[in-house]
Amino acid sequence: MRVLVTGGAGFIGSHFVRRLVAQGDEVVVLDKLTYAGNRANLAGLEHEFHQGDIADPVAVAQAAKGCAAIVNFAAESHVDRSILGPAEFITTDVLGTQVLLTHARDRGLRFVQVSTDEVYGDIPLGASPSTEDAPIRASSPYSASKAGGDLQVLAYVRTFGVNASITRGANTYGSHQFPEKLLPLFITNALDGLQLPVYGDGKQRREWLHAEDHCAGVELVLREGEPGGVYNVSGQERENMDVVRGILDHTGASPDLVRHVEDRPGHDRRYAVDSSKLRALGWSPSHSFGSGGLADTVAWYRENRDWWEPLKSDEYKAYYAEQYASRLDES
Ligand code: NAD
Ligand code: DAU
Repeated sequence: MRVLVTGGAGFIGSHFVRRLVAQGDEVVVLDKLTYAGNRANLAGLEHEFHQGDIADPVAVAQAAKGCAAIVNFAAESHVDRSILGPAEFITTDVLGTQVLLTHARDRGLRFVQVSTDEVYGDIPLGASPSTEDAPIRASSPYSASKAGGDLQVLAYVRTFGVNASITRGANTYGSHQFPEKLLPLFITNALDGLQLPVYGDGKQRREWLHAEDHCAGVELVLREGEPGGVYNVSGQERENMDVVRGILDHTGASPDLVRHVEDRPGHDRRYAVDSSKLRALGWSPSHSFGSGGLADTVAWYRENRDWWEPLKSDEYKAYYAEQYASRLDES
């Protein structure tokens, strides 16, 4: 099958391209190459590449020529950046999704929207993991924009009969993740002996899902998901401080690097999703966060400094200062 993978130069999108190429699918990538997009992630993978914006109907039509399906990974994806500046999140995550859906409708293409467990908002400790029919209770500008994209998908299914499904994945980890989110930021900082800024008490909980397991779920939904179907992709639940302790163990960095800093505004305490629906299609994860997943990820960053060191550019340093300088000064 010829598949358009939007956001294919990003973290999870590039793992998905690797998966499809290995299986002999024909892959076209449409990616704007924002700060998070990196063509090095696609090195050695046979694909057709288009640099462009998913919110631009002309760029979408050109890239999608001959494709039978669109899988949309393209997004502004970092919660902290959405707090510093939400506008771009609406343009890409809501309007961009609607432009892709319109193309899928007009050309009769299969469509998969890669969404997030964050749309359910935080789940009280002890409460059952969210099923797909749980209400949308987005907390951050990022999760609200992803929820807006999801609602567009469901509206296009119902109103126009588009053959579209949605995946809602948990916190994803693995190689090739831009060093701004918890895992790649703390691993690379720990390797460099830099401070590790833990928001608040660090007792927030997330589910950790390996990028390859996430992509296996998305692929299954692409091939077998129902039109209008929503599918959670779960991970293994950990408290943030447990994750930080794991990073210290695997990097050998000093616990003195840990700083508890001012919390993220609107910070969700816990995410947890029930993936029974996807498991019923045949999905099961093959990586374990505690037994190898985190250790392998730390090893990848240790061995691939030439991948991440150039990403800590002047733009990155400006973002880092805006996000962390006063927090770290006050800690
Ligand atoms: P990422 O930030 O690493 O990559 C996003 C990619 O999209 C980049 O290559 C970027 O250049 C591209 N992009 C951004 N705006 C674009 C636009 N307007 N047009 C075309 N391309 C554009 O993100 P990721 O972590 O790989 O996440 C991929 C998808 O998975 C996102 O939709 C995200 O919401 C979702 N998701 C991520 C996680 C996670 O933990 N990282 C978990 C669940 C769901
Ligand atoms: O749950 C899926 C979501 O996971 C995806 O949709 C998002 O794209 C992805 O960014 C991620 O969102 P989170 O906000 O959960 O991930 P992040 O890595 O930013 O933060 C994970 C936890 O670590 C969260 O409780 C905040 C905390 N944290 C994060 C950073 C960057 C810190 O304590 N310090 C930090 O510097």
